[in-house]
Amino acid sequence: MKVLATRRYPGPAFDELADVEVGPLTARPDVEALIVANEPIPAADAFPSLRLVANYGVGYDRLGMEELRDRGIAVTNTPGVLDAATADLTWALILAARRRVVEGDRRVRAGEWTGSWADGFLAEELTGSTLGIVGLGRIGGAVARRAAGFELRVVSTRSRSSDEELDRLLARADIVTIHAPLTERTRGMIDARRLRLIRDGAILVNTARGEIVDEGALVAELVSGRIGAGLDVFAHEPTVPKELLGLSNVVLTPHLGSGTVQTREAMTRLVVDNILAFERSEPLLTPVSA
Ligand code: 8YV
Repeated sequence: MKVLATRRYPGPAFDELADVEVGPLTARPDVEALIVANEPIPAADAFPSLRLVANYGVGYDRLGMEELRDRGIAVTNTPGVLDAATADLTWALILAARRRVVEGDRRVRAGEWTGSWADGFLAEELTGSTLGIVGLGRIGGAVARRAAGFELRVVSTRSRSSDEELDRLLARADIVTIHAPLTERTRGMIDARRLRLIRDGAILVNTARGEIVDEGALVAELVSGRIGAGLDVFAHEPTVPKELLGLSNVVLTPHLGSGTVQTREAMTRLVVDNILAFERSEPLLTPVSA
């Protein structure tokens, strides 16, 4: 089966593909399978032989699922293997934002550490605070398990939770962390009104998708200094709102959630296993059913 991959995906499993080419998504009548990292799939006339899209990532919001379904093209993603890495990065952002780690690092480098201790530079305690998990799925669950070690109270919502439950979580949590997929329902879900529900001094962490939050409204809240944030995802990646760049109450990372050697190799393994199963007419390991 002729496979076109948008890059050489990391790890040895990639070499198990017998007929793979690395290149851009430009028209190819011969290509039957695509490996993409949540990139938009071109219209039918560009890939008339396409039968499978193997997405490198759990989120597939940019593929154009409706059209792929209409064209009868199978789609797979990589759930499960990136839960731990994404949960770990979430905790890195929670700790960094809550304990002012990046701000402290900057102060040391700028020669601004003059006293013998950090007088006037105190943070809020993490232990004993309340963590609000928006989307208690696979990744949200991994975040919750880690919260036990920090003795946090955990409140959470799931996809079937009501609007009122989400509002209550936002009003109650000291740290709000988002782990929902981007869907028509979650796009803009954390809007200006909901951002205002978040408590003064609380922290919003997003390792899911930037579009779940009204980014303009979030920027306004962060510029005001009322809340803090740890952000790994943005509405228009790789563009980060320039207003955030000078703020000490925000920690920024470049979409690193699944970015460990081991996880990225495991994602390639799962992508390749799906393609090999498809070639053998066996059931796909992780089909996207939506
Ligand atoms: C990216 C992700 O896919 O899994 C997801 O939904 O956002 C990430 O794992 C990965 O960074 C490759 O683009």
